[in-house]
Amino acid sequence: IVSRALQTDMVIPNWINFVEKIRNIYNECKEIKDGQVATYIPQLARQSPHLWAVSLCTVDGQRASFGDVKHNFCVQSVSKAFNYAIVASDIGADVVHSYVGQEPSGRLFNEICLDSTNKPHNPMVNSGAIVITSLIKNKTNMADRFDFVLNQYRKIAGNEYIGFNNATFLSERATADRNYALSYFMKENRCFPKETESLTDALDFYFQLCSVEVTCESLAVMASTLANGGVCPITNETCIAPNPCRDVLSLMYSCGMYDASGQFSFNVRISNFLKKLFKKLQVGLPAKSGVSGAMIVVVPNVMGLCLFSPPLDTLGNSCRGVAFCKKLVSTFNFHNY
Ligand code: DON
Repeated sequence: IVSRALQTDMVIPNWINFVEKIRNIYNECKEIKDGQVATYIPQLARQSPHLWAVSLCTVDGQRASFGDVKHNFCVQSVSKAFNYAIVASDIGADVVHSYVGQEPSGRLFNEICLDSTNKPHNPMVNSGAIVITSLIKNKTNMADRFDFVLNQYRKIAGNEYIGFNNATFLSERATADRNYALSYFMKENRCFPKETESLTDALDFYFQLCSVEVTCESLAVMASTLANGGVCPITNETCIAPNPCRDVLSLMYSCGMYDASGQFSFNVRISNFLKKLFKKLQVGLPAKSGVSGAMIVVVPNVMGLCLFSPPLDTLGNSCRGVAFCKKLVSTFNFHNY
């Protein structure tokens, strides 16, 4: 009786039933064989296409995990969401947005372009993310800056696994022509803060944060901190200020899935014929993907999820991850509106 009484107080009351449904969705998505593992660096090319993990953590700390949830992988572009939240908590959103906009770019994530005011479009594309990392405090000392952000990541993850993959960092740096071109273009347009002396340091820091390692379980806790207004559900520590937490979810909603963000957030009530025609993703939840196959999804005030599967679709989002989200929102009524 006591446990039943307790369960009805939880954010997901019928937990056993809920977990069973999630397990079924996990198993259905396991059969998906679409997509290609990223090959631009050997550390990603070597990832097994069979890896498939789902982990979730509710805002009241209930956990469920399926598949390869202990496997270590790099956050890659998922770091962009947390870096924005950390910097905006630290120096304030007004300062951050005097350097970076908040509109979807409608362009590829690494395209060399700025908005009409000569700022990067938003913090979720490479241009914006590179400027955001250069705004992180302790700008003059690379080691302190790295320590500062890693400590923040650890707090957001409730002290669960956060590591660093040096081989990925070195490979990213060795194949960074596009990011260098993008940064010089931004330097020419005075996009960086005055204190940014070295583009090499700024880019190294960006690559280092892409090379932060997590497990599906630890990244799910990080997502649940975003679902919980910036307070980690495992430790109850406030790690992200309330407004930046709200804002990063808006940015993830509109820009987190790259070129597919509009489709991902869109839930049209049109005929099946048109749905097929436009291949709408129809998920309607804030999410952020990375080229490693990592993806976080946030159900505000309910839970954070991490999905991990390396084969990517043509837009760079995990095929199994996107399929899981579609099934999740068609099974449960998690859509925002
Ligand atoms: O900037 C880059 O190219 C990568 N290290 C980050 C890429 C990433 O995750 C974008 N992808 N979906």
